[in-house]
Amino acid sequence: MTLDELKLIHAAYRASPDNPDLALLLARKLSALQMWTELLENMDSWLKQSVEKQQPELAALLIRALLETARVPEAEAKLDDLMDAAPDHDVEELLAAFAAKGIKPRRSHKQKSVDDPMVDLSDFRPLDLKTRSQVTFAQVGGLESLKEAARMKIILPFQKPELFAKYGKKAGGGLLLYGPPGCGKTHFAKAVAGECGAAFFNVGIHDILNLYVGNSERNMHRLFETARSNKPAILFIDEIDALGRKRELMRHSGMTTTINAFLNELDGVGNDNAGLLVMGATNAPWDIDSAFKRPGRFDQRLFVPPPDQTARESILRIHLADKPVAPLDLTQIARNTEHFSGADLAALVSQAADIALTDILKTGNERPIDNKDIVTVLKQIKPSTLEWLAVAKNYVEYANEEGSYDEIRDYLAGSGGKRRMGF
Ligand SMILES: Nc1ncnc2c1ncn2[C@@H]1O[C@H](COP(=O)(O)OP(=O)(O)OP(=O)(O)O)[C@@H](O)[C@H]1O
Ligand SMILES: [Mg+2]
Repeated sequence: MTLDELKLIHAAYRASPDNPDLALLLARKLSALQMWTELLENMDSWLKQSVEKQQPELAALLIRALLETARVPEAEAKLDDLMDAAPDHDVEELLAAFAAKGIKPRRSHKQKSVDDPMVDLSDFRPLDLKTRSQVTFAQVGGLESLKEAARMKIILPFQKPELFAKYGKKAGGGLLLYGPPGCGKTHFAKAVAGECGAAFFNVGIHDILNLYVGNSERNMHRLFETARSNKPAILFIDEIDALGRKRELMRHSGMTTTINAFLNELDGVGNDNAGLLVMGATNAPWDIDSAFKRPGRFDQRLFVPPPDQTARESILRIHLADKPVAPLDLTQIARNTEHFSGADLAALVSQAADIALTDILKTGNERPIDNKDIVTVLKQIKPSTLEWLAVAKNYVEYANEEGSYDEIRDYLAGSGGKRRMGF
């Protein structure tokens, strides 16, 4: 879809905002671009209407937008209404979107409240989040310049604090990893922790919700205190957009206290944050509040791009390493998998293994994974980074005044973007 098309639909919708078909059309386009904020801004009048009065598909898109902009209570209320108003409408995808955010919609709350993270807070113990990461850089394909940056800025300062201190550098600080889904942000963060041998606190979206519902300030403080008392430590907050979402998007969500508590801790008010690295990861950098990016907070940002050809080859090699494989032309496979994410490549290997296994079980003859299996799977799967790159391109073009997306812009201008994407 082109932006011109979007502009046209938008203009038509603005001319007759009450036309349900135009509303649905615009909502579809904006949601395909993941422009959730824009969707809500444009559809405010529909949002105010009761769900029964609109097409279920439009209602579902509005709910999705509310969810994606952290207006969870409203999203839940509307989902309830939608399930009442259109019991036959398929809400599978919507429920999956809730689940992906670690949220159980209210309906299931009612049935099951005991082990629900939104309801039961008694089990929140920050210490449980502490792990030792077993992942190392050897298990991360590509991302060479990121590994180098991490060595200089994170790992060595942790390992040789005195040397770095002499030159006015200290370990720790805030680092934000961003990029398309499945390209190794979480994987890379774990590998950094594994390389440092630092204590690793892995905070997921569930834990954040726990912090939010409970006494958020106290819980947040406990989390940081525990990390500080385990220095050198890495506090990794995955999917940080759930917490760092622009505050205007948060206005109704009651999460402001949690956010402020987090920012206070990040500033290390009255505490010593040296030796503590707070690492965040997100695939929606544009949703992150600028307060998060101020000096002393997440002031270092690293783009984790889709793997280039060489990186794809090493990712394939890593995922094939411990499996029986016939000789494969990995260079050729890497060439045929442009715009595949690391996760796509991992899936490729795993599905090829499934084919080989099915064969073996059928015939009784053991055989390795071969090129035919790979080719079969390649016919079935599509690269998953294109959609993200298309969204990112809009931000580069229309919202890059501060240069926040320069790294993405450079990537798109390079071979990764130009070829085949038509950019
Ligand atoms: N560079 C890589 N080297 C090896 N494996 C990779 C790489 N990138 C991704 N993978 C594989 O893909 C899986 C998913 O990657 P990961 O969870 O790190 O992606 P992500 O960028 O955090 O995605 P999301 O934005 O969805 O959280 C990893 O567990 C790993 O198996
Ligand atoms: Mg991740």
